[in-house]
Amino acid sequence: MGEAARRAHEAGFDVVDIHGHTGYLVDQFMSSCWNRRTDEYGGSPENRARFAVECIRAVKENAPDAVVSFRISVNHRFDGGRTRDETQELVRALEAGGLDMILCDDGSYEAMDYVFPPYYLGDDCMVDAAKRVKDVVSIPVGACGNITPDSGEAILQRGDADLIVIGRGLIADPDLVAKLREGRPENVRPCIRGNQLCTGNAFFGKAIGCAVNPEVGYEGVRVISPTDAPRRIAIIGAGPAGLEAARVAGGRGHTVDVYEQREDIGGVLLPAAAPDFKEELRRMIPWWRTQLDALDTVTVHLGEAIAADDPRLAEADEVIVAAGSQPLMPASIPGIERAIDVLAFHEGAEVGHRVVMCGGGLSGADAALELAEAGHEVVIVEMADEIARDMFMLNRISLLRNLAEAGVRILTGTTVTAIGGDGVHVEGHDGASVLEADTVIAAFGSRPATGLAEELAAQGISARTVGDCVSPRTVGDAVNDAYELALAL
Ligand SMILES: Cc1cc2nc3c(=O)[nH]c(=O)nc-3n(C[C@H](O)[C@H](O)[C@H](O)COP(=O)(O)OP(=O)(O)OC[C@H]3O[C@@H](n4cnc5c(N)ncnc54)[C@H](O)[C@@H]3O)c2cc1C
Ligand SMILES: Cc1cc2nc3c(=O)[nH]c(=O)nc-3n(C[C@H](O)[C@H](O)[C@H](O)COP(=O)(O)O)c2cc1C
Ligand code: SF4
Repeated sequence: MGEAARRAHEAGFDVVDIHGHTGYLVDQFMSSCWNRRTDEYGGSPENRARFAVECIRAVKENAPDAVVSFRISVNHRFDGGRTRDETQELVRALEAGGLDMILCDDGSYEAMDYVFPPYYLGDDCMVDAAKRVKDVVSIPVGACGNITPDSGEAILQRGDADLIVIGRGLIADPDLVAKLREGRPENVRPCIRGNQLCTGNAFFGKAIGCAVNPEVGYEGVRVISPTDAPRRIAIIGAGPAGLEAARVAGGRGHTVDVYEQREDIGGVLLPAAAPDFKEELRRMIPWWRTQLDALDTVTVHLGEAIAADDPRLAEADEVIVAAGSQPLMPASIPGIERAIDVLAFHEGAEVGHRVVMCGGGLSGADAALELAEAGHEVVIVEMADEIARDMFMLNRISLLRNLAEAGVRILTGTTVTAIGGDGVHVEGHDGASVLEADTVIAAFGSRPATGLAEELAAQGISARTVGDCVSPRTVGDAVNDAYELALAL
């Protein structure tokens, strides 16, 4: 530890942060759930803090000018793990041992979603950890986890913490601090907390990327540099794919016209990011608006449904179709017309008290959670053996906990066979049954909107396709593919 601190110091770092979190060695010494020692390193809080204090001293001796900080999980959040009360005793010992600063949140390998908090956990989801530590120490205390510039400011104003720690927000926008300093908060690109390409990639041994910032991992390689051959580009669709393509192509100096049939930009995000827990995803829409407004090369035409024979397409040098997808309503299910699709629900269709959600993928599970949290009685019917099985497993931990807390009933291995006036007919492990419902929502996924690209091809206009109209996936896929496409023009 001392040797590592010496090298960090020589390399010019001002702060050395000791990782006392997530059940790693230092945390193991501090926690009675793992530390069974009976010598001077086990038992009392002072003894369990001894190894951590020795680390602090080793860092101080070897990096005398550096600030020594400590990353602590204040609440392990599993039965038998360390609680906030126990942590209060430990941090007193760390302060007495010479610590300069402490950074607080929760979690452990047993409650991994708190270490990389997904959108389900909401803003400032662990600020209480910092508050509890601040109650018992006088060194600066940092709060961490799903903190935005605005919510961070409020935390500081309330005095719940002395400093704000931001992780993924700085991946999504490495210029976050500079933009705030320059008084341009509307230009800060929000982290959408999906963990898709940062934590997700890291877990699978890949270099990190970012769902909203395609330059992550490609610094110096992916650069929006001026084109030496400016062209006229028509983009159909102002969802994430069309907006990102316009931002990059316009930023390079191409003349870009974006056509959108809706009265606003955002595509599927407009309805799909409506739940409170998707606020950060929703915030991408004003961010794109700000970026495009600043480009005099980009014009957005709203309320214009473009047909393949539109003369403006023939005049463009490049046509990009970013037309998205359409909800899947399987005609093979008798009575499917009695159901509303999941987007119709998000767009404000009336929903009764008892809801059967047909399909437990991301869109169905998220809609079920939103409805249950609003007081509806919700059953999810899913054909596979588990719901949201394509979801990154850390996000899924939070989702399943929230669904359970909201009282959502989940029927897996169960197929919808028909929808009748008496309810939803299903076939499951226990045979056939009927689920009574006031509203049936179809969340069977979506299919790519390929019609426009096919019609253009039939007219001899070669168009590039990007986003969900190639294959319905995620915002991260749409944004990263659109960025690459526009950079190659
Ligand atoms: C309910 C739901 C929840 C979701 N939740 C998440 C999530 O939490 N995280 C995540 O990463 N992804 C989520 N997704 C997926 C994500 O929304 C999509 O992957 C993403 O929006 C795809 O972007 P896109 O631009 O390709 O398509 P879209 O967002 O569908 O945009 C396409 C746009 O093209 C317009 N358009 C189509 N045809 C024409 C035409 N002829 N003329 C003019 N305009 C046209 C449409 O009006 C639309 O605005 C969700 C999807 C759904 C349905
Ligand atoms: C890709 C990635 C790697 C991380 N690695 C570490 C780590 O090595 N040590 C650590 O203490 N936290 C690590 N974290 C967690 C962050 O420090 C932070 O606690 C977490 O991202 C929540 O803060 P945020 O909501 O501001 O992102 C990592 C986070 C990400 C996204
Ligand atoms: S991949 Fe998603 S969660 Fe990770 S930094 Fe980017 S926006 Fe945030």
